Amino acid sequence: MNNTNEKNELLKKIYSVKDDKRGTHKVITVAGIKIKIRKTNLKQEIEKFIIMNNKSLDIGIPQNITLQLCYNNDCNCKCNFCSIHNDTKKQRLVMPEKWLYEYFKPIYENTKNLNPTYGEITKGIEGYNYISFICKNYPHINIYIETNGIAFDEKWRELAAENLFTVNVSINAIDEESFKKTVWDKDGIYTLVHKNVQEYINLLDEKGLSAFRPGVSSILNSTNYQNLEAFIKMVLEWKIQKIVFYFDTRENNLNKLSVKDKENFDIALTKLLEIERILKDKVYLGFRLFMPIKNIEEYEKAVNEIPLETLKEKYSEIWNLAKNLDLKNTYYERVKAYKAKNKKLITYFEFLKGVCWHSKFHNNYTICENSWNHIRLRPDGRLEICAWRGYRDSYKIQQFIENDTINFKKLFNDFYHRKLRQNFKKRDYSGCMKNCPAMANMSLKEYEEKYINEKAV
Ligand SMILES: C[S@@+](CC[C@H](N)C(=O)[O-])C[C@H]1O[C@@H](n2cnc3c(N)ncnc32)[C@H](O)[C@@H]1O
Ligand code: SF4
Ligand code: SF4
Repeated sequence: MNNTNEKNELLKKIYSVKDDKRGTHKVITVAGIKIKIRKTNLKQEIEKFIIMNNKSLDIGIPQNITLQLCYNNDCNCKCNFCSIHNDTKKQRLVMPEKWLYEYFKPIYENTKNLNPTYGEITKGIEGYNYISFICKNYPHINIYIETNGIAFDEKWRELAAENLFTVNVSINAIDEESFKKTVWDKDGIYTLVHKNVQEYINLLDEKGLSAFRPGVSSILNSTNYQNLEAFIKMVLEWKIQKIVFYFDTRENNLNKLSVKDKENFDIALTKLLEIERILKDKVYLGFRLFMPIKNIEEYEKAVNEIPLETLKEKYSEIWNLAKNLDLKNTYYERVKAYKAKNKKLITYFEFLKGVCWHSKFHNNYTICENSWNHIRLRPDGRLEICAWRGYRDSYKIQQFIENDTINFKKLFNDFYHRKLRQNFKKRDYSGCMKNCPAMANMSLKEYEEKYINEKAV
């Protein structure tokens, strides 16, 4: 044997990789020690190694975190369509105080948006105390409240107005009768919520903060499709500029893209697209989030062929209520107030769309940004990058607790986050909700036409 062969034989003894007899495993020999790894695992291990060593996927701790905390599953309402209310096996769950007041402290400085949600943050005093603590100690954080409005009482209204909250009230109905049919068969709730919204608007007006009028939302399903126009009119009477309809996810099937009451769904969607055209730049009309069909472009095409003047005539009452409103002016009014209070600046995009999902540019087109900056957390510790990918019992914040603190750097840069960043950059949204608006592939030009060149604000 020559010298080279001898060296190769020696090297093989020190390090070699071979298939085992059945061909299902690789046998790795390192310095005489044999390690057997399933071939598929090996592929995964190699992928993991590459991803974990790709510096462009490592972001440290982001500066603009959105903390979407599923604060509690308590609720003072019993909406027919809500999975929280209909979960018969549910135990009471509340975010542990130690997390809120200790573990999250290191990231509050980097937090831009806090969105307590899940059940009802206004039920019980703990939620109020926690949000007050954030307002007092971290006034730069923008708070987004989603509430059914029942307990949105004087103390909450005062806290929200003073701290420039973005508020959404889920009103869901146009009157007492429709509330009982669509939402909850209980007297007086609709009237109470209506009164709380009116009083909040009065308070904002008194404080010179009319630009912070709340947004209002409604479930949309086979019980209330016919109320759509009346709902919009009711909300516009308040000069509210954000109206969101949620197609009912319990009634329709988002995975199979099938709709329960297709005939009335079609009528409602067409109306929404028509009204959206006349409200453009005046009032934000949201309805694309839980879209249970795949061909919305066909509906849009038909609606876009109708002259705008015809639509203004068709919906003359809505047009008359909205024609003097201006979304950008309202946003600029908000910006002045945010600056005066040293808040992190909400973008026009966030003002319109909220902060459950985010967009960023990659190769000059938008991609979903949630795997960069968004934490969604359940009170039992289950962790995700948004509300719509589904949780896994095996992925919890507890896994990142080290020496009685949360290692957020590790959390934001673990394999899961990095892999999703890599996927999203390639527009691979495996595991995501169908028709998610965050998947929009918008060019810079389209984005700036629809929204604002934010650097100019
Ligand atoms: C789950 S709630 C939590 C916050 C608060 N309790 C509320 O109702 O506003 C958040 C939003 O989800 C909406 N929602 C509840 N069930 C829904 C469903 N089955 N389909 C679509 N949206 C739904 C509610 O109307 C509400 O606007
Ligand atoms: S108010 Fe919100 S959390 Fe409560 S039952 Fe209704 S949708 Fe669910
Ligand atoms: S694209 Fe995926 S991660 Fe982004 S918001 Fe939609 S479902 Fe969530």
